[in-house]
Amino acid sequence: MAVLPIRTFPDPVLKQKAKRVGTVDGSIRKLIRDMLETMHAEPGRVGLAAPQVGVPLRVIVIGLPEEEDLVIINPEIVRRRGERLVDEGCLSVPGYVGQIKRAESVTVKGRDQNGKEIRIKADGLLAQALEHEIDHLNGTLYLDHLESLDQLRKVEAEPEPTQP
Ligand code: NI
Repeated sequence: MAVLPIRTFPDPVLKQKAKRVGTVDGSIRKLIRDMLETMHAEPGRVGLAAPQVGVPLRVIVIGLPEEEDLVIINPEIVRRRGERLVDEGCLSVPGYVGQIKRAESVTVKGRDQNGKEIRIKADGLLAQALEHEIDHLNGTLYLDHLESLDQLRKVEAEPEPTQP
């Protein structure tokens, strides 16, 4: 296992559309292990998408405080409900947060690390993290949801453990 360096804005890999994963082979399983280790090494993290470690593949990991880690391969949002304003940050945009709109709840389907089909219904922070990480796979950062970069706020300390 290895802690991988996090790519930060404006690294072009963050603007790329990531490719779907075919077979979940040894290299994908290693990527997942490294992503989990990298996520756990970062304070204030609740998720990580493969492009953030320079790999343009559709793999995300989510690690909410007190919850079991979630690994989703080829995740897709199949349903979005409601809308709410949230403060959001990103490991790839260190030192800033911004307020954007996210869904109240989402349903996501994809595959787990064993290639098994999964479907997750989520609200609150988990829904936010899922939208945030799936955005990464489409080359979208939360910055892209702001009307203007002037809306970004600087944060002095590390983000709270509520930032995807
Ligand atoms: Ni992010």
